[in-house]
Amino acid sequence: MAEVQDGAVGSAVQKLDDQSPAPATAVVRSDRVPNPGFPPERPRVTDLDPKKAKAAERTVTALFFLSIIGSAFAVAAYVLFPIDEGAPSTIRLSNMFIGIGITLGLLGIGIGAVHWSKALMHGHEEVEMRHPTRGSDESREKAVQIFRQSNEESGFTRRSLMRNTLIGAVVATPIPAVALFRELAPHEDPIALLRHTMWDTGVRLARDPSGTPILASDVTIGSVFQVIPEGLADLESHRIEEKAKAAVLLMRLPIDELNEREDRRSWSYDGIVAYSKICTHVGCPVALYEQQTHHLLCPCHQSQFDVANHCEVIFGPAARPLPQLPITVDDEGYLVAQRDFEEPVGPSFWEREL
Ligand code: FES
Repeated sequence: MAEVQDGAVGSAVQKLDDQSPAPATAVVRSDRVPNPGFPPERPRVTDLDPKKAKAAERTVTALFFLSIIGSAFAVAAYVLFPIDEGAPSTIRLSNMFIGIGITLGLLGIGIGAVHWSKALMHGHEEVEMRHPTRGSDESREKAVQIFRQSNEESGFTRRSLMRNTLIGAVVATPIPAVALFRELAPHEDPIALLRHTMWDTGVRLARDPSGTPILASDVTIGSVFQVIPEGLADLESHRIEEKAKAAVLLMRLPIDELNEREDRRSWSYDGIVAYSKICTHVGCPVALYEQQTHHLLCPCHQSQFDVANHCEVIFGPAARPLPQLPITVDDEGYLVAQRDFEEPVGPSFWEREL
């Protein structure tokens, strides 16, 4: 006689007949938790009161109507607030109004659909039992026959030249798309484009967006400034691109907490350091500064840079530190650049080409 006990749960077991050829592990549990089934269905207010159902219907209709208005508003905003590349405020206005319209359009549909399903559609729970996904031998054999017959009738295997040219045509068809996408890239050499910014010897660091130069004494410990080169606001053409490339974050740390490499000791001024604001991952603006830890965080994919250690990457997908802008002060005490960045700003894949 073999009696098999499930030690973990102390379950009752089926006694196996000594004569039975069944293996000793063939255990039938009798303590399985019974299926409790669905809880009793509770009627909703809209099931009980036709007035409430009508009100819910009106709410859903209003939400869908709001969505239509939002979408129409987005289109109107696109027409009424065109972007003038020389005026950043037009970009902000256009994005804001188009964004508001699209938000209303999507929210209206989303909330309306959820409310419709929760308040008005039937709430019965149902169970759909699984069924075997493998077809019967008969249907599988039939499928193979169909393939064979199709192959025979089309001559796909037999007419090899035609088949190969078809494969060639299918492979070649997406190639024009590659050329079209290539057109989206800048026409100038992207490395040269990112290699140089407006920073140059003696260019003052100015507040963004006012363009006011910054005195070294204005930068207190723990503070952070977003800065642009002085004079950027006067540029009429390519202003957006130049600003995007030249945006810099300026921070002051206690000198004893700044671990500067020997060859870069002259790049900072009295604990004040300047780093490119463009994330080296895919180019989002690094935006959050944690003054206790001296960490900069990029909100796009959470890359973190350690300002105290040359903005090296301490977390996230960015592959290299933020480029540092060498700075000093001029005769009047204003912070100025010593020269341009020594490496291209922005995503790392530009650098790999170098
Ligand atoms: S762009 Fe900054 S982490 Fe991806």
